[in-house]
Amino acid sequence: MKIAVVGTGYVGLVTGVCLADIGHKVQCIDIDSEKVEKMRLGFSPIYEPGLEELMVKNIAEKRLFFTTNHKEGFMDADAIYIAVGTPENDDGSANLLYVERVAKDIAENVNSDVVVVTKSTVPVGTNDRINEIIQNNLVNNVTIHVVSNPEFLREGSAIFDTFNGDRIVIGADHEPAGKLIEEINKPFDISVFKTDLRSAEMIKYASNAFLATKISFINEISNICERIGANVEDVALGMGQDSRIGNQFLNAGIGYGGSCFPKDTKALIQISGNAGYEFELLKGVVHVNQNQQNLLLYKLNQRFDSIAGMKIAVLGLAFKPNTDDMREAPSIVVTKRLIEQGAELIAYDPAAIENAKKLLSSEIIYVNSVEDALKGSDLALILTEWSKIKEFPLENYKKLMKEAIVFDGRNCYELSNVKEHEIEYYSIGRPNVKKQKVLVEK
Ligand code: UDX
Repeated sequence: MKIAVVGTGYVGLVTGVCLADIGHKVQCIDIDSEKVEKMRLGFSPIYEPGLEELMVKNIAEKRLFFTTNHKEGFMDADAIYIAVGTPENDDGSANLLYVERVAKDIAENVNSDVVVVTKSTVPVGTNDRINEIIQNNLVNNVTIHVVSNPEFLREGSAIFDTFNGDRIVIGADHEPAGKLIEEINKPFDISVFKTDLRSAEMIKYASNAFLATKISFINEISNICERIGANVEDVALGMGQDSRIGNQFLNAGIGYGGSCFPKDTKALIQISGNAGYEFELLKGVVHVNQNQQNLLLYKLNQRFDSIAGMKIAVLGLAFKPNTDDMREAPSIVVTKRLIEQGAELIAYDPAAIENAKKLLSSEIIYVNSVEDALKGSDLALILTEWSKIKEFPLENYKKLMKEAIVFDGRNCYELSNVKEHEIEYYSIGRPNVKKQKVLVEK
């Protein structure tokens, strides 16, 4: 089928490339001509494992195209996917300006009957609004239906998730339009859940809010574990064996970040409020997450009277491993506070340094390896559980640092391993490890 995808951000580009890979002819549209030029040559503007390979393959096989021209992109399309951003407004609501502009562009440029598919995460009722804008501004005599098809992709495994998702949600108030989208997705061979427009919109928000709740829940449990001398890792493992609870998303840490959870939880609180309902539980989830980002600093301040002048190695900056994305990363809050308290920061991240430079204090020194960050430092802070950090040999902390003191915000190391080394080690929801006396005396 012929498909147009508007917006080549994270969601749009991955969607476009994967739809091309299953055999459709896809035009990806973006207003940024420089970006379009690069993508035509097979260069991805985002870091996502496997994406460039699929781009190059599908461009060569003449199924994947890029353009800045809406008319050209929409020409004879069976479906047009809206995948532009919905950034957060100051009050936490979703900014729908870009989505509404695309709806107008569609109305003014389509030349044949088409199904419009919303991939962007939009508040409940937005698809009706998109439909209204399109119908009110239609230039040609064509029939258009709107379908909601939310994405559930994780950054860093978006290609894998597209081909191996748990479900495809299709929300449609017009049966044949929903069928067409089901047809487009058939080659993925993933089970389809069909519902109405508004329920599909809500499924996306409710799913992200639930996952964020799981994280804040385990983070609170971890804070209690610290106080009562339990180990949150074992607690999570024991809980997760109950299939009703499930063993995923129970890793305690310094809080969730990224482009989805922070934005979508706040948007859902807004949506509920606008509908006359206070989502108290979700407000708590957001609040817990904000506190959790300050946890390492709290632990540091308990351990040291002052950190002014200390040389601190910051290991990991991205909001999670395998991405260069810094959006809402806990490292933003943590590094800001450390600098306010007069610390000197030497930071390392395998992929996010370029993005970090745009966001974080210009006082931070960036280096290209864990070793270089640790050399001569007074203490180390782990903010992202990259495998390069998890697999870094524990004995090297002692060798490289002035004194091996580690504050691990992502529970990267097994406590039993840590105990075999001369390290003072603080993690999340687990007992602290003091330097082993025997080793110190040697
Ligand atoms: C998420 C959803 O998983 C995806 O379905 C949705 O479409 C977009 O938002 P993503 O933001 O890429 O995807 O990251 P994810 O892997 O879900 O992690 C989100 C955040 O939660 C990260 O900051 C991660 O560090 C944190 N997290 C995750 C935890 O702190 N503990 C966990 O157990 C799991």
